[in-house]
Amino acid sequence: MNIKNDNILIIGAGNMGYAFISALIENKVSPKKIYVIEKKPSARLKKIHKLKKIKIFNTINKFEMNIKISIAILTIKPNQLDDVFSDELNNKIKNSLIISIVAGKTHSTLKKLSKGNKNIARAMTNTPAAVGWGTSIIYFAKTTTSANKKRAMQLMSLIGQVEEVKSEKSIDTFTGLFGSGPAYLYLLIEIWSNYAKKNGFKYAEQMTVQTILGSILLLLNTQEKPESLRKRVTSKGGTTEAALMELNNNQKFQKLFEKAISKAIKKATTLSKS
Ligand SMILES: NC(=O)c1ccc[n+]([C@@H]2O[C@H](COP(=O)([O-])OP(=O)(O)OC[C@H]3O[C@@H](n4cnc5c(N)ncnc54)[C@H](OP(=O)(O)O)[C@@H]3O)[C@@H](O)[C@H]2O)c1
Repeated sequence: MNIKNDNILIIGAGNMGYAFISALIENKVSPKKIYVIEKKPSARLKKIHKLKKIKIFNTINKFEMNIKISIAILTIKPNQLDDVFSDELNNKIKNSLIISIVAGKTHSTLKKLSKGNKNIARAMTNTPAAVGWGTSIIYFAKTTTSANKKRAMQLMSLIGQVEEVKSEKSIDTFTGLFGSGPAYLYLLIEIWSNYAKKNGFKYAEQMTVQTILGSILLLLNTQEKPESLRKRVTSKGGTTEAALMELNNNQKFQKLFEKAISKAIKKATTLSKS
């Protein structure tokens, strides 16, 4: 089983839909097998349509009815979901695997909207998916076939790393931890580079980003634990120790960070119940 043999329908080609389209093309899936439903195609979508000849339809009603869709990916906003699940769509995807990355929309909602589809996967990812570096999780309905599970894992791995979770609740936890994760890092970059600028460094942002990227590459190349690399930079009585003492004395920073993430998890849980 290889998703290269599947007809794939992408519903909503904004940020995430476009990320899937480019990942499919980059991974040599034939553009002939990619179908897109998008109300208002963006300039970049029109460009890819012109270059690669992927088929774009404004609504499901315009979709060619003789095409058998194996995978339908839902990449619309949560408030657009009800409109999308028309009888025409359900007719078209009743035997397809549905992968939804729509935030907060539970498996039971998707099952209801799809009139009882047995092959539903709920996935969640984060913004680096747009460049193939997403961190994703996926949760399968008990009734999902193993072939469809493999399909879904293959598809999600095109936009980065993916792990299966056995409990749907983990999606909310993941959202707080890693879905919002890029924003935590960007805030750090903003604070750090603004302070570097105040201290007279013209290329403060580049220097901050390079320090983070370089540290991550070092971590990956050496395959050491972050703790051991941190300890190596932290000499007794030195500059790093002075900063870290201020930052995390009595686990001050750790507690604050954990508290912030727990708020995000709580919010994700509330949103998915509403
Ligand atoms: N962005 C992320 O990093 C991220 C990460 C994880 C999960 N998600 C989830 O992914 C989903 C998509 O996010 P996004 O950032 O890609 O949103 P987005 O950029 O707004 O994309 C959604 C697209 O779907 C189109 N659309 C709306 N209704 C439609 C319909 N009936 N038929 C066809 N197309 C329709 C929208 O068109 P209009 O603009 O004209 O309405 C828009 O182009 C959301 O549910 C979000 O929760 C996003």
